[in-house]
Amino acid sequence: MTKAKIGLIGLGTMGAALALNIAEKGFPIAVWNRTTDVTRRFHAAAGALAGRVMPTETLADLVAAIAPPRTLILMVPAGKAVDEQIAALAPLLGADDLIIDAGNANFHDTNRRATAGLPMRFLGMGVSGGEEGARHGPAIMGGGARTDWDRVAPILTAIAAKAEDGTACATWMGEAGAGHFVKAVHNGIEYADMQMIAEVYGLMRDGLKIAAPDIAAIFRDWNEGPLKSYLIDISAEVAAATDPLTGQPMLDVIRDTAGQKGTGRWTAIEAQHLATPVPVIEAAVMARNVSARLSERVAGAARFGAGGQPVALSVAALESALIAGKILCYAQGFAMISGASASFNWALALPDIARVWRAGCIIRSAMLNDMAAALAEDATRNLFLAPAFAARIEAALPALRQVVAAGALHGHGLPALGAALAWFDLMHAARGTANMIQAQRDFFGAHGFERLDGAPAPHGPWGAA
Ligand code: 6PG
Repeated sequence: MTKAKIGLIGLGTMGAALALNIAEKGFPIAVWNRTTDVTRRFHAAAGALAGRVMPTETLADLVAAIAPPRTLILMVPAGKAVDEQIAALAPLLGADDLIIDAGNANFHDTNRRATAGLPMRFLGMGVSGGEEGARHGPAIMGGGARTDWDRVAPILTAIAAKAEDGTACATWMGEAGAGHFVKAVHNGIEYADMQMIAEVYGLMRDGLKIAAPDIAAIFRDWNEGPLKSYLIDISAEVAAATDPLTGQPMLDVIRDTAGQKGTGRWTAIEAQHLATPVPVIEAAVMARNVSARLSERVAGAARFGAGGQPVALSVAALESALIAGKILCYAQGFAMISGASASFNWALALPDIARVWRAGCIIRSAMLNDMAAALAEDATRNLFLAPAFAARIEAALPALRQVVAAGALHGHGLPALGAALAWFDLMHAARGTANMIQAQRDFFGAHGFERLDGAPAPHGPWGAA
């Protein structure tokens, strides 16, 4: 066999799927896993692709199997394992060899690695789409030196998902941690989209007493309209599934506590640092944390009665509320990306980001096409002011208000939809209420304030009377 075009370390679910995808697109690939048995089994199961896969048993063999200048993809758990792997490879690689961290790294770690003076080239790459995406076409968000990206772009473009217009969803986002940052915002939005769908599901299940198979039909119907997306599609599928053990709807036998690996939390924390509000994402992270507090929720129900009483809402209102919530959430997410771009000197191209999310990734949706177009018109304008989206918000707003109000009146917690609405209402208040905050701050801390009429105002007349 000739030398491999690329190497991959870490044959877990995502690494294995990515390696097969690369081999399938015609690139010979050398692979290595910490446990040799895993490597052997992977090769044995590679079927028709086995001829393009070179299993190796030591890191030195792996490096020797790749044609120089070498490219190596790391698919190991984020954090310490990445640093350890880089350290182990350092004595084996030359200055022109390139390591690509394709895990869900915290972008601060990627920034650190990019500026640490590593003895080899380094890219940080966000990969989205789960196992299926990694195997047949993920969305790829790259970060690091543009020349390094260009070097591997032919492979990454070949393995990436293709949008409807044929464009590959593999894009260089910017220097250093830019790719992992964009992936983190993707994951924050993923949390938010999922939470808003779960809130609407709860209104249907508890408020409207609709059974899971009928909820599936509603999601299927929505998936033909403006909400068309992977997450609505899989929500229809999970709502339609039957538990093989009991014959009940599968959803009805799944415990209502959600796990998380932390990327949504990173996004919420980063948004606080950047002072770029993403309340829908924050609400989604909060809701996952609340979901984990099962025993307290059970005690709460015993003391206060179960929430989620019957409501009078139309299914059409729920669909519109979700449309509005989704637009407002993405407006927040893109504004956060703008903030980070300025703060980290990244020149992130918002239309490119909307485009790279159109296929392959978890948040892929029809609406991203229109978002890409609106951002291409003017990337500096908040998406909620883009004429096409302002009109959609206006049309869906009465439903969002009605749904959030009904939730509040009848005990359905709707933190994400509620946060979308509250943000919107704050964002169209030309005269807000922070004058009160400023007066309070001046009262107790002499912090000062600005007067509307521009007159000098060292402090307010507090306590002067
Ligand atoms: C993707 C996903 C993926 C993420 C999982 C789990 O884009 O393919 O974002 O990277 O790891 O969705 O995330 P949580 O465990 O935090 O829900």
